[in-house]
Amino acid sequence: MRRKRSKRQSSTEVDRTSCNLKVHPKYIAQRFRLFSKFEQGISLSDSESWYSVLPEKIASHVASRCSCDVIVDPFAGAGGSCIQFATTCTYVIAIENVSSRLMDAKHNAEIYQVSNNIDFILGDAFQIFPSFIGKVDVIFIAPPWGGPNYENGDFFNFGRFQYRLSEIVDSFLQVTENLAISLPRSSSPRQIASAIPEGRLFEVEYNYLNDKCKTITVYLGSLVKSLVSSMIPQQSHSSEDREMDNGQRYQP
Ligand SMILES: C[S@@+](CC[C@H](N)C(=O)[O-])C[C@H]1O[C@@H](n2cnc3c(N)ncnc32)[C@H](O)[C@@H]1O
Repeated sequence: MRRKRSKRQSSTEVDRTSCNLKVHPKYIAQRFRLFSKFEQGISLSDSESWYSVLPEKIASHVASRCSCDVIVDPFAGAGGSCIQFATTCTYVIAIENVSSRLMDAKHNAEIYQVSNNIDFILGDAFQIFPSFIGKVDVIFIAPPWGGPNYENGDFFNFGRFQYRLSEIVDSFLQVTENLAISLPRSSSPRQIASAIPEGRLFEVEYNYLNDKCKTITVYLGSLVKSLVSSMIPQQSHSSEDREMDNGQRYQP
């Protein structure tokens, strides 16, 4: 039976939960970076969810770039990304193949009061995606990276299956050419370039929090906006911006 959550979780409660889940203390310490409303009862009910969630400021930035009518988040996890898409898109389709994570995503979206904009679907994204061909504007791809020890590998683990990044990109390009792909910061430009079909423009964005690169986002189709090369993170001017910088690089 699903545990009833209190509205507010004290840090001792969070520590106890994380001990049971074997979550590294650094993720607990950064819980407000994952969800600014963490104290309102955010649920991350397995350890993988803790290290898979896209930090809120990065998710919010990517959501602003992906603003559209209908977006699909086929690997939705506990909801970090789809919650932000619900603030910039009219309608969000969130797919997840682990039921407890999908329940967390729905619960967390309720805390952010955006659950009405999101359709939560339990299932295998690779089986469901053909039904969206020609019906969606953007797909945000955040495949499972294989955990915090991910080492620049070319393969992404999907349960018993492994997919190459190029196979994942090819699959979703059948639905729409407007893709945003979230990758580990250790992904090399060469690895990214070799996964994108020849002749397609793409943009590689390095997502920084507090001067540390946390993730990479690759944009394709109409989401590509920067054709100007710049490896230097933009200067932040306000205290609000200080946590989030985006160094952008375009590759032909
Ligand atoms: C990196 S996490 C996504 C994190 C999410 N973007 C967030 O910000 O919270 C990847 C998720 O994909 C899910 N997943 C893996 N294979 C899948 C499949 N074939 N279909 C749907 N979901 C899948 C995993 O269970 C995991 O929760």
